[in-house]
Amino acid sequence: MAHGTSHARRFLPLLPLLIHACVLLRTPPAVRADRTGYIVHMDKSAMPPHHSDHREWYAATVASATDASADGRAEPQLLYTYDDALHGFAATFSASELRTLRATLGFVSAYPDRRATTLHDTTHSMEFLNLSSVGGLWPAANFGEGVIIGMIDTGVWPESASFDDADMPPVPSRWRGTCEPGVEFTPSMCNRKLISARYFNKGLVAANPNVNISMNSTRDTDGHGTHTSSTAGGSAVPCASFFGYGSGTARGVAPRAHVAMYKVIWPEGRYASDVLAGMDAAIADGVDVISISSGFNSVPLYEDPVAIAAFAAMERGILVSASAGNDGPGLGTLHNGIPWLLTVAAGTVDRQMFAGTVYYDDMLGTINGITTYPENAWIVYKRLVYNDIVSSCDSKEALANSTTAIIVCRDTGSLLDQINTVAEAGVAGAIFISDDADFDKEMPLPAVIISPEDAPRLLGYINSSPVPTATMKLQQTILGTRPAPVVTSYSSRGPSPSYASVLKPDILAPGDKILASVAPVRPYAMVGQTQLTSNFLVDSGTSMACPHASGVAALLRAVHPDWSPAMIKSAMMTTATTTDNTDSPITDAGSGNATIASPLAMGSGHVDPNAAMDPGLVFDAGPEDFVALLCAANYTNAQIMAITRSSAAYNCSSASSDVNYPSFVAIFGANATSSDMRFKRTVTNVGAGSTVYHASWVSPRNVDVSVSPATLEFSTVGQTASFEVDIKLSAPTGGEPAFGAVVWADVSGKYRVRTPYVVL
Ligand SMILES: *[C@@H]1O[C@H](CO)[C@@H](O)[C@H](O)[C@H]1NC(C)=O
Ligand SMILES: *[C@@H]1O[C@H](CO)[C@@H](O)[C@H](O)[C@H]1NC(C)=O
Ligand SMILES: *[C@@H]1O[C@H](CO)[C@@H](O)[C@H](O)[C@H]1NC(C)=O
Ligand SMILES: *[C@@H]1O[C@H](CO)[C@@H](O)[C@H](O)[C@H]1NC(C)=O
Ligand SMILES: *[C@@H]1O[C@H](CO)[C@@H](O)[C@H](O)[C@H]1NC(C)=O
Ligand SMILES: *[C@@H]1O[C@H](CO)[C@@H](O)[C@H](O)[C@H]1NC(C)=O
Ligand SMILES: *[C@@H]1O[C@H](CO)[C@@H](O)[C@H](O)[C@H]1NC(C)=O
Ligand SMILES: *[C@@H]1O[C@H](CO)[C@@H](O)[C@H](O)[C@H]1NC(C)=O
Repeated sequence: MAHGTSHARRFLPLLPLLIHACVLLRTPPAVRADRTGYIVHMDKSAMPPHHSDHREWYAATVASATDASADGRAEPQLLYTYDDALHGFAATFSASELRTLRATLGFVSAYPDRRATTLHDTTHSMEFLNLSSVGGLWPAANFGEGVIIGMIDTGVWPESASFDDADMPPVPSRWRGTCEPGVEFTPSMCNRKLISARYFNKGLVAANPNVNISMNSTRDTDGHGTHTSSTAGGSAVPCASFFGYGSGTARGVAPRAHVAMYKVIWPEGRYASDVLAGMDAAIADGVDVISISSGFNSVPLYEDPVAIAAFAAMERGILVSASAGNDGPGLGTLHNGIPWLLTVAAGTVDRQMFAGTVYYDDMLGTINGITTYPENAWIVYKRLVYNDIVSSCDSKEALANSTTAIIVCRDTGSLLDQINTVAEAGVAGAIFISDDADFDKEMPLPAVIISPEDAPRLLGYINSSPVPTATMKLQQTILGTRPAPVVTSYSSRGPSPSYASVLKPDILAPGDKILASVAPVRPYAMVGQTQLTSNFLVDSGTSMACPHASGVAALLRAVHPDWSPAMIKSAMMTTATTTDNTDSPITDAGSGNATIASPLAMGSGHVDPNAAMDPGLVFDAGPEDFVALLCAANYTNAQIMAITRSSAAYNCSSASSDVNYPSFVAIFGANATSSDMRFKRTVTNVGAGSTVYHASWVSPRNVDVSVSPATLEFSTVGQTASFEVDIKLSAPTGGEPAFGAVVWADVSGKYRVRTPYVVL
């Protein structure tokens, strides 16, 4: 349902962000000359000693660039100074001021602040993830106790029961966050669960000086941030449901973790400078995991606020988990394809959320279908009407004589039109024949959608019975559906446009029809003409998948406080499952479930939290490894510094695109005849002390894969060992991607370390 918004989320077009920037540049207000927002990277080591700190230096830099004659407004505005995510600031400049700035001491780079489409990539998933109070990761991690998850999102509804802190331990003393006052938000609204609430909109206001901020505080008026944050770290709420659907206890993946909200996405727009400010603050405040369910399409790494801030986060040991986007199923559609963060794709769970049942032929016949009618209703023993006059369901007049009946509508291809017409006609109920298996829009009348495969049984009964009747039971939720998980069609696919040589997405997590808390400020369903709101919402998207992965990362952080972000990510990836609940390979709904989901759709596979706790081997990589990758990409010094912030800490003496990643991409191109790529990897033993691992792998058609050595011996925990994977083409691939995996299994049979590869 969600007002059809989830549909919009799924099919948001790929908008090149530069176009937005250009639009801003091309529309100068008549009076005010054209100062626009820029993000400016500075070399902090070049700060002249007479400045007391970087803030003063940046302010002086902005002031000295001022060209008063060029603008009706006296001065450029300094919007933010940054120090943790990057070194630099956001400010408004005219073109001539920007030229002056470029010649200033310490200047590294500048680019226009970006407006992005206000994208939201939009509890039973805990059971589906096999999280259990009895054993495994949940009790081992003490449900995430002591861990802080920073959410970069639309804000939070603090009154939601998911942020009840009754069972929460005190706020960690290391915490530096704050609860900022604002409109309808007081500092007392934070507690031991929601430990911080901050908001950032200076970039938005600078770009739109006359904008009216509808809720100038961390309060969520969209619902997205409340949904994602309660999914990652919400407290348990018994008896939660969306109008009776999916009822049960709603809880976050890490239910004892603390949540800190950084509101950077506004109904009025989302700007790169605000996203950077939120992530900068999260890093400085001391979060352990950052969860960001939105991204910037088609930007290079060195101008992507998420990539820039995530690099600084990695240096501080903070894992960043980000949504892949909802632009699938085409290849190369994902955002946040950033090598040093976790990119999350969306899969289904084994639950048909919106189910209704049609009983016919004196209850002898049963058909399960889809309904979103928001009430626990039985439509008992009504006449069934299906004839030439009514069955197209496109005329209220034709339906006027059947208001006490259940109307059966044939598939005319316009389900929403039919629903509206039949609802307005005021019939007792309706049965729609449609193959829209993903319907989740509002249904203001009692109705069930049945599939074209099931329809002939019902129509046969109607034709053969003198007085056909039926009963409908609405508001049902069916558990244990198969197959699950399935990669959703909308989940964005790799390879990553911003860096194709690292396999993206990284992992698949539950994202489809997820129940979580929401801001009860908009209608989410209708009965007749009555609009209904709810404290819980079922929503779909990689936005919902990302906080599941963030929550798992938080649990792993609690169990392994000494692990680097790359180790946590590796543990999640190498233990991911590639089979569904029918024991078949996970399939891809983007191709009608007919094909096996490739690593470009689901990365390493579906996250398996309990297995991730004890992965056996991990692939570690630190900031210097990713700098080597940036160097190999031939970025300029300034571009690399935009990400690393400092030229002193890193250099390009060991450029290499072969980062120690738990997956492989070999790019040969469509016409390559014979080519050879070698990858070197190093694993660290975090499992049994003394053990031996053997490699196994498959070679797809026209590809020869070899691994050497194929046996790795370890005698102690913490020991490392290296191996090489050689991927050779024996004939052109013809442009068809090829897939496979190298699997390391230890002799005890306990560990299985899987690393997928893609040949392009
Ligand atoms: C959960 O556990 C069951 C039984 O151990 C297993 O079959 C299933 O694959 C697991 N599911 C996930 C998502 O790990
Ligand atoms: C903001 O609100 C004021 C007063 O309600 C109105 O006059 C103005 O047009 C609004 N501005 C925009 C950009 O909507
Ligand atoms: C929002 O609130 C902050 C803090 O009170 C204030 O500084 C800022 O000017 C407000 N912004 C807008 C657009 O009203
Ligand atoms: C509805 O019933 C009335 C009275 O029986 C009849 O005149 C009219 O034709 C019917 N309309 C339709 C669309 O069947
Ligand atoms: C694909 O699988 C999903 C999840 O089980 C299911 O809802 C959908 O109907 C399937 N699609 C097709 C075309 O079979
Ligand atoms: C970078 O430059 C080197 C030397 O010119 C070249 O061999 C290499 O292919 C370039 N790499 C990329 C990713 O463009
Ligand atoms: C580059 O970094 C390496 C490793 O940190 C260091 O050994 C080397 O001296 C550095 N080179 C320069 C020119 O700074
Ligand atoms: C590959 O070869 C085909 C046929 O010769 C040609 O049309 C195509 O442009 C080539 N593609 C590339 C990427 O070189």
